[in-house]
Amino acid sequence: MTTLDDNQEQLRSNIELIGRESIDDLEAVLSVVGHYDVEGYHRVPDNCPAEFTWDYEKGAKPQLDKLYEKAKKAQWNGQTDLDWSIEVDQEQVVIANAEANPAQMQWDEAALAGTALEKWDEKRFIEFGIQNQNWLLSQFMHGEQGALLCTAKIVETVPWIDAKYYAATQVMDEARHVEVFSKYLDEKLSGHYPMNAHLGLLLDDIVADPRWDMTYLGMQIMVEGLALAAFGFIHMMTTEPLLKKLLRYVMADEARHVAFGVLSLQEYYKELNAAELRERQEFAFEAAIRMKDRMAMQEVWERMEVPTADVLKIMQAAPERDDFQILLFSKIVPNLKKLGLLDAADGWLRTKFTEMGAIAFEHLTDSTEDEDAFADGSPADRQVA
Ligand SMILES: [Fe+2]
Ligand SMILES: [Fe+2]
Repeated sequence: MTTLDDNQEQLRSNIELIGRESIDDLEAVLSVVGHYDVEGYHRVPDNCPAEFTWDYEKGAKPQLDKLYEKAKKAQWNGQTDLDWSIEVDQEQVVIANAEANPAQMQWDEAALAGTALEKWDEKRFIEFGIQNQNWLLSQFMHGEQGALLCTAKIVETVPWIDAKYYAATQVMDEARHVEVFSKYLDEKLSGHYPMNAHLGLLLDDIVADPRWDMTYLGMQIMVEGLALAAFGFIHMMTTEPLLKKLLRYVMADEARHVAFGVLSLQEYYKELNAAELRERQEFAFEAAIRMKDRMAMQEVWERMEVPTADVLKIMQAAPERDDFQILLFSKIVPNLKKLGLLDAADGWLRTKFTEMGAIAFEHLTDSTEDEDAFADGSPADRQVA
């Protein structure tokens, strides 16, 4: 991220922000594929000034204090609250999920004509479904590690004691999320994928930015907002009972995490000047595009040895899949509106979300009204289904 000069009136162009003119340039999207770092780890300088506060007055921010008290009662244990004895037959899950969700998971033959998939037999399609599961759960796991690092950073950087307390509970939540996704991948699925390249670029940007509110905006509002919607869809569509319950537990925590983001930022953003708000708008737009790009699943296509030209053909012939992906922005858009970011700078961000086809979500309720966020007791105690 570069810093906008206060005098600069213009917002940056798509090329400057995301490296391409059209947000729908799929060829550019598919050309970036994630790989494991050979050293087995990935380091990002986080440039953050850790901040002590001497104002220990608990409850000075009443809404954050309330969220903290709820979070303490909402802890669950991934080892004991989930039934890990459930056996998962990935092939059967692929078949059952496709039968239960024909609109999202079955292929339209016309879309496959003239591509490598035209010659695939049933076994190969099932293999593709299995790779999809491995990829998706891997991305959930990597994203959760991003959240773990970001919330640890928020504990250090946010200036208010109520927010430090709350963020500390979220660090524990995210550790549990990484743990359960990793355990599910290792014990129930059949392979890992590296971090998707687009998601990786976004997480690097979020971690590297020294300003505490940018960690919130990138992680709590954008990444977690999208994750909450994605978990909701998979929870609704999957026929696999262990994953269903696991996701339900994670979603109960994520609702609180996104609410934490909105509650913290809405006050702070009222103090920012126009140039500072523009910078936040650009950051939100860049993050939205990175997350949209990730859904092209380039690592799966590569593993299945489908040429890029064929992937382009398939995606262009099935625009309803794109519509489905846009639904994943349903939590993000109302929250950005609540924060004033849709309308700042003559509605620049509103124009961008209109271009993406996601602006209609602005009328949905924002995450400060999510029941899960303020629920009393852990998902295990509440017996959520
Ligand atoms: Fe999480
Ligand atoms: Fe989270």
